[in-house]
Amino acid sequence: MNCINSTEKITPEAVAAELSACRAVKEDNLKRYKDDPPGFYIETFGCQQNEADSERLAGLCILMGYVPVDSIKDAKLVLFNTCAIREHAEKKALSIIGEMKHQKAADPELIIGIGGCMVSQDHRVEKIKRSNPYVSFTFDTGAIHRVPSLVLGARNREKRRFILSDNFGIAEGIPTYRKTPFKAWLSIMYGCNNFCSYCIVPYVRGRERSRTPEDILREARELIEGGARDITLLGQNVNSYGKDIGEMDIAALMREICKIDGDFRLRFMTSHPKDASDSLIAAMAEEEKIIPHFHLPVQSGSTRVLGAMNRRYTREKYLSIIEKLKAAVPDVSITSDIIVAFPGETEEEFSETLSLLEEVRYDMIFSFIYSPREGTPAAAMDCQIDRAVANDRYQRLLSLQDTITAERNARFEGRTLKVLCDDVSKTDSSMMTGRADTPRPIHFKGDSSMIGKFINVKITKSDLFSLMGEVVE
Ligand code: 5AD
Ligand code: SF4
Repeated sequence: MNCINSTEKITPEAVAAELSACRAVKEDNLKRYKDDPPGFYIETFGCQQNEADSERLAGLCILMGYVPVDSIKDAKLVLFNTCAIREHAEKKALSIIGEMKHQKAADPELIIGIGGCMVSQDHRVEKIKRSNPYVSFTFDTGAIHRVPSLVLGARNREKRRFILSDNFGIAEGIPTYRKTPFKAWLSIMYGCNNFCSYCIVPYVRGRERSRTPEDILREARELIEGGARDITLLGQNVNSYGKDIGEMDIAALMREICKIDGDFRLRFMTSHPKDASDSLIAAMAEEEKIIPHFHLPVQSGSTRVLGAMNRRYTREKYLSIIEKLKAAVPDVSITSDIIVAFPGETEEEFSETLSLLEEVRYDMIFSFIYSPREGTPAAAMDCQIDRAVANDRYQRLLSLQDTITAERNARFEGRTLKVLCDDVSKTDSSMMTGRADTPRPIHFKGDSSMIGKFINVKITKSDLFSLMGEVVE
């Protein structure tokens, strides 16, 4: 193993050194490319946390004098921000990275860097090192801020570098480039301490660490002054915010953000049921700016399976939280993540997941067939479930949830919702799309002058995937 196991702490000086590497790359870009700055392209896989990390990578690329390009083929710097949550995500990334061989052969100056969860695992880094010689460097989730010096090293034709951090800190002061200023991810904490037995995240993103309320509130103010209308507070386990630094909890933090002047709204994800506190539910009930949408992954409806998953709650405990939530926020939208075919899951235990869906009546679920992840306890468990059985359970889960989703979406018919217009519809240029409190997209007739604005839309029709409506004054 000759990857670089970096014990370097993230200090303000380390970040400053990277920002000065940015300036060095920029100067060199100006010399080499004059008035035609080179392009960068970032391909992001996986969750919102990766999306947010890619926005910081883009901020660094711009500081280095690169400009965003729409096609990977036009780029001189390509960064892949990878995911490792399921096998499929890794396979997809590896296949796209494999294709880069040809582009590198045609352009020896091209720099290719791979970051994110996949390359935060030794075995993946070793494989890439051996099999993908055209990859200039890899950087794990703790080393995003180090990309400028990695790029500088690659441009100076130094040895390829493969960073695996031993220290996962927080790098403040990294610029962020957001494509849509009216919608923003705001990371408030990183990492996860929960070690659910199927999940790779704690191994690839390190322990929970919270940003200080001051740093978060400063960024929130800047975002709102810059036109942000929809802010999502992000973290792998966002509702355990503050525990590590003994600061305010997520409820208090959100109440502070709500005090900022401006027409904006606030979301948060992802939450763990063990930390879904009364104070958080109360904040959602009382603060107008907090969207009444709670993403509260249950994973399974069986207490035995939840135990094997190391989730630290029972079916009954979960249902009691849902009951409290519905009582406090009567029109709340609830969504969830579900894993089917966890090792050893019996037909009866699976049917407990189905009955939980009937009881909770989620607005939407994200469902996954269990995927073994190397190094996690569940991957070594006996009784991995046969693929055909898993597929059958998955289909039954989807079909039950479709009925519930249709019923939940229909409740909005006839109501007028305050919709933040996102974009022109992909399928019909006279239609716009946006989002309100509901997790579903909303389509309505309009034009691009509406993008980034709140529009009142009366819902006329709903289906499984979206709501349709008309603009009202
Ligand atoms: N297999 C299938 N789904 C998984 N998830 C996490 N790890 C796995 C795995 N090994 C799902 C969980 C989690 C969501 C982000 O991904 O449902 O909440
Ligand atoms: Fe993974 Fe569990 Fe942490 Fe979520 S809470 S990131 S599922 S270990």
